Amino acid sequence: MDKVIDIHDISFSYNGCLALDKVSLSLAPGIYGLLGPNGAGKTTLMKVLLGFLSPPAGTGNILGHDIRTESREIRRAVGYMPEVECLLPLLDGVGTVAYLGELSGMTRQEAMKRAHEVLFYVGLEEARYREAKSYSTGMKQRLKMAQALVHDPKLLFLDEPTTGMDPQGRQEILELIRDIAVKKTMSIVFSTHILSDLEQTCEQVVIIDKGRIRTLADIHDMRARNYDTYELKLKGEAEEFFSRLADVGVHRHPIERGVTRIGVPPDFVPADLFRLARDHGLQVRHFRNCKTTLEELFITLIEDNHGHQE
Ligand SMILES: Nc1ncnc2c1ncn2[C@@H]1O[C@H](COP(=O)(O)OP(=O)(O)OP(=O)(O)O)[C@@H](O)[C@H]1O
Ligand SMILES: [Mg+2]
Repeated sequence: MDKVIDIHDISFSYNGCLALDKVSLSLAPGIYGLLGPNGAGKTTLMKVLLGFLSPPAGTGNILGHDIRTESREIRRAVGYMPEVECLLPLLDGVGTVAYLGELSGMTRQEAMKRAHEVLFYVGLEEARYREAKSYSTGMKQRLKMAQALVHDPKLLFLDEPTTGMDPQGRQEILELIRDIAVKKTMSIVFSTHILSDLEQTCEQVVIIDKGRIRTLADIHDMRARNYDTYELKLKGEAEEFFSRLADVGVHRHPIERGVTRIGVPPDFVPADLFRLARDHGLQVRHFRNCKTTLEELFITLIEDNHGHQE
């Protein structure tokens, strides 16, 4: 199969409030981060892809199944770790995972066997006979991960899997995602607003904001090639100079404390900037290469796209 997700112009509103705005996305098998600020539409997008919410407009396939007519097949083949708790009263860890496995279409026996295996995989083997309600936040996150994996899905949606975890627990969840990535046993889409989670686990990131997909990009590629940043301080009238730089793809950020930050294209040569400054009668007082954090990159991408589309 060449695409695990293939959707076109999907829109969704809650009581007239637009949460997804003509979203199109085509993803080959792999591990993807879904990155966006609060309210961007990450959870809504996952729910639409799972067939929990039915969009009034748009079309799509998940693992080759139509999202409108084949939601049962989709749920069988897809694992979902929701953002909210999914505890069942009175059940212990094994009981919870096995029950949710049965709901995904497994036989009781099969579900029970797999429940033990996945609880072991997520590190809950010792707590598996405890009532799940008594679990700590980190344990509940692992339990949610286990139930998403129980029926051995081909595609896994994880909605903010590291939320509420302490640093060690977070690393362990990320380690599980990396393990799946290495084994290539299933595709994963996981949402987060913690940028370092993405850097550690996936190569590709889908950026969503205000219900629209802004970018599908390769993290390392993006950082290495497109967004090298410099700090620049000039003396003199610089508007014409900056407009010449913009012609060659240099991106200017607002001035902070007299320092302008510029994002430069891959073929940028600093000597050209000095020459251009001299030609415009400007004095370069300060010029320094600075590493762009993924955080800045994220903000830049969202700002850029607002500029282009609104
Ligand atoms: N059940 C609901 N009823 C009404 N509006 C909703 C509902 N769920 C979400 N929304 C709205 O839809 C938009 C997208 O929300 P969504 O929960 O998909 O965002 P998100 O990216 O998952 O955010 P977060 O990072 O906070 O989880 C927001 O404006 C939100 O207020
Ligand atoms: Mg959400």
